[in-house]
Amino acid sequence: MISSEAAPFIKTGGLGDVLQALPAELARIPGNEILIFLPYYKKIKYDPKVTAELVTSFTVNLTWRQQYVGLFRCTDKTGGPIVYFIDNEFYFCRDGIYGFYDDGERFAYFAKAVLASICRIGLRPEILHCHDWQSALVPIYLEAEFRDRLPEARTVFTIHNVEYQGKAGPEFFNEVLGLDDLWRGLCSYDGCINFMKAAIVKADAVTTVSETYADELRYPYYAHGLSGILASRGERLTGITNGIDVGIYDPSSDKALARNYSADDPAGKLACKRALQKELGLPESDAPILAMVTRLASHKGIDILCYILRRLLERDLQLVIVGTGEARYEHALQAVASEYPERFSMNLRFDSALASRVYSGADIYLMPSKSEPCGLSQLIAMHYGTVPVVNATGGLKDTVPPYNPETGEGRGYTFQSYNGDDFLGAIDRALGDYFHNPEGWKALVKADMEADFSWQLPAQKYMELYCSLA
Ligand code: GLC
Repeated sequence: MISSEAAPFIKTGGLGDVLQALPAELARIPGNEILIFLPYYKKIKYDPKVTAELVTSFTVNLTWRQQYVGLFRCTDKTGGPIVYFIDNEFYFCRDGIYGFYDDGERFAYFAKAVLASICRIGLRPEILHCHDWQSALVPIYLEAEFRDRLPEARTVFTIHNVEYQGKAGPEFFNEVLGLDDLWRGLCSYDGCINFMKAAIVKADAVTTVSETYADELRYPYYAHGLSGILASRGERLTGITNGIDVGIYDPSSDKALARNYSADDPAGKLACKRALQKELGLPESDAPILAMVTRLASHKGIDILCYILRRLLERDLQLVIVGTGEARYEHALQAVASEYPERFSMNLRFDSALASRVYSGADIYLMPSKSEPCGLSQLIAMHYGTVPVVNATGGLKDTVPPYNPETGEGRGYTFQSYNGDDFLGAIDRALGDYFHNPEGWKALVKADMEADFSWQLPAQKYMELYCSLA
């Protein structure tokens, strides 16, 4: 597994969660040996909880540059996957992990350093599973420079978000990549060097994190310029819907909660609701709590939330939002929150313990994302008995089938076209059942908590894919 993030070491989003749970689940399958390669970021290197030892050191070339590689092996005994860190202080010992002028060079180096390390210590991997643009050059360097030493290696490239592709100017090819000119066409797209495009074309299999997103990626509305390339992979582009780490996200053992609970013993959820109201200074009423734990970015649907916000707050409910992001949304939401102190608690920070208390204390979870490759928070919300209202896109569509009060089937409330009025309509349907169909609501909450969102099934699907490439 080659990635720029993996919890608990380093995480900025869902990618980090996936790279914590999926390798661990795969490692439980007899016969598998799973290794994870990560950059040795400053944050990991100086984390007192992480210990590692130097295995070997050498250099790799990126054209005229000769760059040091220190290969460290994590010595924490967890019994799970083995974790290697690629050390180079020039590239990775910085404050923060992305957003530098030379990100392209940093992750080109990373791809090459990982392959060189694998050869150096004599590993013969069958599968190199690469995630997002930061490890997208692995399939290319493998073929161009390492194939003779890794004859059996097959590559899988997983798109967690097509928005970030790793683009650089055309000069990057000669100045940094140092590949033979015959690779130039593969690495180029639309006048740029495009890491992700190269991996989509070159990897033996391309996956993304839900079935619906795999379909959507064939259309320009979703693919950020890559629809043609993605469509051309045909059957080789598949979707495997993510799970969540049910060992970590577990309302029956989560230490952040006021009281633990489960599908069979749900009483603690009301205690969590009261505790949350107290913590956030909201009246301890029986009004439903609607919640979001999110980045404040427009693709998360914050624009349509702002559009309906005042109308929403006229209803008998409480709204809790946790997250940070674009300044325009932070200001807009905070301004409205100060007008409705009894109804709307806006928390401009990220704190995972508070997030747990919100997932457990809320009744309804809002996730109106414009597009969503998979989405993990709707899964956590359901697992904590909080019913989702979502835009039916990507992984949201796959994991939240619409609730049918007649048959009791489904897990939440959906809207089909991205606009504020339809979003509000879906919220109103949820509120209607909350207030007027209490038995149905109780059963829905229980069904959501009992649904299987573990990594077991997705891990099996990855295994089938890996085996199909042998
Ligand atoms: C990205 C996507 C998100 C997905 C996560 C893990 O963050 O935006 O939808 O759940 O990756 O695959």
